[in-house]
Amino acid sequence: MGKGLLLRSIGISILILLIASGIIYLQQTNINRPGNHQGYAPEQPIDFSHQMHAGELEISCKYCHTSVEKSQTAEIPATSTCMNCHEYVSAPWDSVKLEEQLASEQNRDPELVVSPEIQKLYQSAGFDPQSMEYIENENPYSIRWNKVHHLPDFVVFDHRRHVTAGVDCQQCHGNVAAMERVEQVSTLSMGWCVNCHRDVNNDRVTGLEERYASTDCGVCHY
Ligand code: HEC
Ligand code: HEC
Ligand code: HEC
Ligand code: HEC
Ligand code: HEC
Repeated sequence: MGKGLLLRSIGISILILLIASGIIYLQQTNINRPGNHQGYAPEQPIDFSHQMHAGELEISCKYCHTSVEKSQTAEIPATSTCMNCHEYVSAPWDSVKLEEQLASEQNRDPELVVSPEIQKLYQSAGFDPQSMEYIENENPYSIRWNKVHHLPDFVVFDHRRHVTAGVDCQQCHGNVAAMERVEQVSTLSMGWCVNCHRDVNNDRVTGLEERYASTDCGVCHY
């Protein structure tokens, strides 16, 4: 092989590598385009489980997401909603039971168990679990939950329209009551919205036969 040919084939190899890595890069950035976040399940500041609250404890979705029938957005509950129960529930049952058992074995009063996750809730509420009082001068602050679903700004979506028409949370969000951590189940793409609207208009969605859902550009974009 002549020197010129060798150099040229090295040059071509490098070119192929560059193109290949370019394609891989584009595919990865593609995953991060808006509306293409299927499977996204960010970590949350408190390890809050829908599986425990909506699943095992069977708390209704609307107890926490109160505005879902009344407004465009579903809203994340304020700390005060959590405190309706967590003023009294400071740790999982298991660890409370364990402490009671230990205390009776050791012939002493059980101590108050506060789990690290619930402690974060108390800190945000400015609540002292020992005295069961809200501490004065302690500044309560909101928990900064990470958003899971996010439509681009040029799209209008309204919960109220869908929920009052009888579309279940599950049809769009999957079985949230079985999720330890919320995950985006649907693509939230334009095709996803429009296909369901077409199905609704062709009576292909059970329970929504009487409904009409427009597919005009202007209802979702203005
Ligand atoms: C005890 C209160 C509570 C109940 C009950 C509850 N949620 Fe939630 N939900 C939250 C909190 C807090 C968050 C924010 C943290 C997170 O994403 O886990 C949230 C987040 C969500 C999200 C993601 C929001 C986003 O950022 O895009 C969806 C979807 C959701 N809930 C649906 C449901 C459904 C459906 C039910 C009923 C099956 C339900 N929730 C019941 C408290 C609750
Ligand atoms: C027709 C589909 C659909 C149905 C039905 C639906 N959602 Fe949503 N939900 C969405 C979309 C789309 C978003 C993202 C909205 C955005 O980013 O503007 C969302 C966002 C959310 C959020 C985040 C806060 C917000 O409003 O952006 C919560 C919480 C939520 N949904 C809970 C619920 C609950 C609870 C129900 C049932 C009572 C429900 N959703 C029913 C499609 C739906
Ligand atoms: C209707 C009552 C109720 C509401 C409202 C409620 N919880 Fe709970 N939560 C419980 C109960 C009961 C347990 C313990 C369940 C068990 O141990 O089996 C629990 C457990 C937990 C745990 C697990 C504790 C650990 O250390 O493992 C966390 C974290 C939690 N809740 C956070 C929240 C947050 C955040 C909110 C508000 C968005 C909330 N809860 C609203 C009743 C509630
Ligand atoms: C699971 C089926 C389903 C999905 C998915 C869905 N929709 Fe709908 N949508 C409906 C139904 C049913 C109605 C009609 C409600 C009624 O009868 O008032 C509707 C109505 C609407 C309306 C009001 C239309 C009008 O005629 O005024 C808008 C806007 C809308 N949807 C936007 C969206 C957007 C944006 C998405 C995607 C992010 C979406 N929808 C996804 C079922 C769906
Ligand atoms: C039922 C709701 C709905 C209707 C009707 C609708 N769109 Fe969309 N459109 C969306 C959503 C949701 C997105 C965001 C998709 C994403 O983020 O991937 C979108 C995105 C777009 C985009 C941005 C490019 C892209 O693919 O992300 C354009 C352009 C667009 N729509 C044009 C139109 C036109 C033109 C019409 C009428 C023929 C129309 N849309 C009807 C919901 C709708």
